[in-house]
Amino acid sequence: MMTPDLFSQTDSMRTADEQRIARLRAELNAHNIAYYVNDAPTITDAEYDALFQELQALETQYPEWLTADSPTQRVGGTPLPQFDKVRHAVPMLSLANAFSTGEVQAFDARVRDGLGVADGVSIEYAVEVKFDGLAISLRYEQGVLVQAATRGDGETGEDVTANVRTIRSIPLRLQAKRIPEVLEVRGEVLMKRADFERLNQTQMEKGEKLFANPRNAAAGSLRQLDSRITASRQLSFFAYGVGEVSDSAQVFSQVSFARIVEQLRDYGFPVYTAHPVIRGVDGLIEFYEQTGKARETLPFDIDGVVYKVNDTAQQEILGFVSRSPRWAIAHKFPAQEMSTTVLDIDVQVGRTGAVTPVARLAPVEVGGVVVTNATLHNADEVARKDVRIGDTVIVRRAGDVIPEVVMSVLEKRPVDARVFVMPSVCPECGSPIEREDGEAVSRCTGGMICPAQLKQSLMHFASRKAMNIDGLGDKLIEQMVDVGLIKTPDDLYRLSTAQLAGLERMAEKSAQNVYAAIQTSKSTTLARLIYALGIRHVGEATAKTLAKTYGTLDAVMNANLDDLHTVEDVGPVVAHSIVTFWADARHQTVIKHLVELGVHWDDVAVTEKIATPFTDKTVVLTGTLPTLGREEAKALLEQAGAKVAGSVSKKTDYVIAGVDAGSKLEKAQQLGVTVMDEAQMLMMLKRQ
Ligand code: IVH
Repeated sequence: MMTPDLFSQTDSMRTADEQRIARLRAELNAHNIAYYVNDAPTITDAEYDALFQELQALETQYPEWLTADSPTQRVGGTPLPQFDKVRHAVPMLSLANAFSTGEVQAFDARVRDGLGVADGVSIEYAVEVKFDGLAISLRYEQGVLVQAATRGDGETGEDVTANVRTIRSIPLRLQAKRIPEVLEVRGEVLMKRADFERLNQTQMEKGEKLFANPRNAAAGSLRQLDSRITASRQLSFFAYGVGEVSDSAQVFSQVSFARIVEQLRDYGFPVYTAHPVIRGVDGLIEFYEQTGKARETLPFDIDGVVYKVNDTAQQEILGFVSRSPRWAIAHKFPAQEMSTTVLDIDVQVGRTGAVTPVARLAPVEVGGVVVTNATLHNADEVARKDVRIGDTVIVRRAGDVIPEVVMSVLEKRPVDARVFVMPSVCPECGSPIEREDGEAVSRCTGGMICPAQLKQSLMHFASRKAMNIDGLGDKLIEQMVDVGLIKTPDDLYRLSTAQLAGLERMAEKSAQNVYAAIQTSKSTTLARLIYALGIRHVGEATAKTLAKTYGTLDAVMNANLDDLHTVEDVGPVVAHSIVTFWADARHQTVIKHLVELGVHWDDVAVTEKIATPFTDKTVVLTGTLPTLGREEAKALLEQAGAKVAGSVSKKTDYVIAGVDAGSKLEKAQQLGVTVMDEAQMLMMLKRQ
């Protein structure tokens, strides 16, 4: 008996729904191609979902019309007990490898020889990238995907049809009028790097096993007995050839490999051959080199390029040797991943104090260079990857990037493998290593006394908003540290013009200028000095607040955590950092030395709160004072609120004259400016 539902439907409604199903499928397939094959979506995700749901609803209503090639059937199904074996109708061959230009030349010579071409005639090659994934064979009968198989040993592979159906860029039905009765499409399944990163991220969040690289992730995802897992992973596919073709329509009686690939593209397969055919070996090598340079910019891994004789008639003449075609060769890039053993793990202190665990490795050639060290990023990373001293590890070096340890090969772990422990003190300077809550990076707290951080600290110390030492650039600082002239910032004030002039690319005049700038910097403000010390988390604004709040450096140095917490904008992290900084006696020594060497600053409380006879007065120093050095006198005056100028004018309020005062004194007398000696000046200063 008919269900009331169906009974209520007229034949014409059924026909309309059937047509709608067909239209929806065609439309969704076209959108899939636009999205997954051409990377150019034609509708929004929401619009796609709406069409998809409409189709799903219709298929639920009419289960009799559900077909295996419907776009809704890509979600995976019941897990398999195992994979069935599939015998390939046409064996899946492999490629011979070339690693050098010489080997490519030898290949070309063999091809020419095999074809008996005359000297001076060059062979036409189709060139492609060599995808670093897994080979797969897709069998279409009457245009419908009926079977997908892995390469296996080349003769027999595994039936992974259910999994392959979930790969969106693989057409379930060929979109064309003329299609061969049987068509086997050969190509590579891979995972794009971004999809790989995302997968590993989710694996990590779920506490599941991480994949070493995109190829392993692609293999692991394709060889899943549960196709729903495959469906949840983003796999991609690129076609690069054909296997069995039974083609009465003669679509594939093509004369060139390039045409075959074009035909596959027209059928809706993703292909990656935007390369024109190339004649002769020199062009091949150029293609190899260009592709090598572009390697890192591709969204997926490649491990070389492939050269194929383009003319299919020539291919046939050349034939095969053992399991490889004589008409093709893979020109491989140096491997980006190799395995080696971890001899030790120690730490490296960066210029910002970041302490990075580094694996010392048994030398191994990766990506064309010998690698002996590889970064392990941070302690969490070491723990997550569970890399131990003595382990066999996979090391990766991509492009110019620092080599890194990808993972340990657990099967090869020796019984005496040792776990890495982050040291508690800096190997460079002995300061405590700290790691703040929520931070992955451990840091040396040595700041400016840590040699590893010294250059960075000095650059900061000398910078415009800190001690403002004009002309003391990064290059100069690097040189001074490298030759051992400077070990702590106070050493800057011990430099002589001669020492500066002895540095590379330092003319006498520039040495004098830098020397003068260093001397000028001795007179500074409390805020600048605090900022210059480079206490972690103490930026310019915090330095100013501290100076204003405490007035003197002594007060800042003596402030405890509780005090500091009451300061505006100083939170627990900043307060802790300040206290830790002063707890290190070596920082106190630096300050002591700076003072001894004549560095001085205005104690804010003095200038801001108390007016003196010198407040806002312009003062000029001339001649040699009996007890005070020029800089010392200047500092005293500035602390008292004076502006110390270099020349006498009508605006000058006082001239302080010493022995051998010359023209400035004369000018002061001419202009009627008050002149006094050191003793008078000190008297006035005392009266404040
Ligand atoms: S052609 C008869 N083209 O390399 C030639 N193979 O070492 C069959 N591969 O198993 C292969 N990219 O997995 C060809 N553009 C490409 C390729 C490619 C990657 C893989 C494929 C094959 C292996 C051969």
